[in-house]
Amino acid sequence: MERKYRHLQPAADEITPKEVYLNRRDFLKAMGIVSGSALLAACAPRGEAPPPPAATPPAGEYRDELGNRANSWNDITHYNNYYEFTTDKEDVATLAANFDPGDWRVEVTGLVHQPRTFGLDELLRFEQKERIYRLRCVEAWSMVIPWTGFELGDLIRAVEPMSSARFVKMQTIMAPEQMPRQARTRDPWPYTEGLRLDEALHPLTLIATGLYGEPLPNQSGAPLRLVVPWKYGFKSVKAILRIELTADMPATFWNALAPQEYGFYANVNPNVDHPRWSQRTERRIGELGRRDTLMFNGYGSEVASLYEGMDLTVNY
Ligand code: MTE
Repeated sequence: MERKYRHLQPAADEITPKEVYLNRRDFLKAMGIVSGSALLAACAPRGEAPPPPAATPPAGEYRDELGNRANSWNDITHYNNYYEFTTDKEDVATLAANFDPGDWRVEVTGLVHQPRTFGLDELLRFEQKERIYRLRCVEAWSMVIPWTGFELGDLIRAVEPMSSARFVKMQTIMAPEQMPRQARTRDPWPYTEGLRLDEALHPLTLIATGLYGEPLPNQSGAPLRLVVPWKYGFKSVKAILRIELTADMPATFWNALAPQEYGFYANVNPNVDHPRWSQRTERRIGELGRRDTLMFNGYGSEVASLYEGMDLTVNY
């Protein structure tokens, strides 16, 4: 570990008031006007959302390198996107509570000299680091999250990529008996994401195994999920089970669903609007008002060189 978090009880006023992050959809739901998918989610078996660890540090105890206060444990674990369970952000925690990752193993295959299946204990032997990153969702909300995890590059180097490897494909578990929307929708499951190999090897690219120094809760992608802080949040695939190095750009979940809206690169870019909304500003969960969105989510000095010569308005 680079640094250990202090363990303190959050103060009551550090938990985001619900009305601050109610969006229109949640508002309609609160009014009883629910969509089909929300109804489906309501029929799914519910678990008891795990309580916050007795010792989560107060929101704001930690800041990112720009001085932004970290969001609270409650914000980070009760406002989630995890479409395998539900499209309702505030329901993910309870619907995912009973998800049983079992004896998790990650298969790393493809264009590598040493293909291998790693147990969780082996993955936890890679140097675990603590990183406070901004997460910018393509839906124009954001958070600041203190992750624990290891660099994806450490894992990739361990399997020795072949010179023909150019991309890294990552896939979530397929478990329709535990993930209700995998059973009930025709979406292109399992959720799949990908990075160019140089993006995957970048030291900022993390496989998160924890949050605030605690093990990753189910709703955040237990037992391990990707975090690529300069890209829109949908690239950060949860519950990774399979990693494959490929020569060709892999198909991805959101690009397959709506290619005109979600590109492969998905770098945070305030100058390229989503076809249905502006990406110029964002709503930081827990704050009133909006903030300007930063190019590459504020990580440009580290990552802009990866895209030199590329037209970022086309390669979105
Ligand atoms: N991973 C899986 N397997 N399924 C998902 O639906 N949603 C993505 C990403 N990873 C998603 C996923 C989206 S759209 C976002 S914004 C982030 O997870 C949200 O991460 P968080 O819930 O930890 O904030």
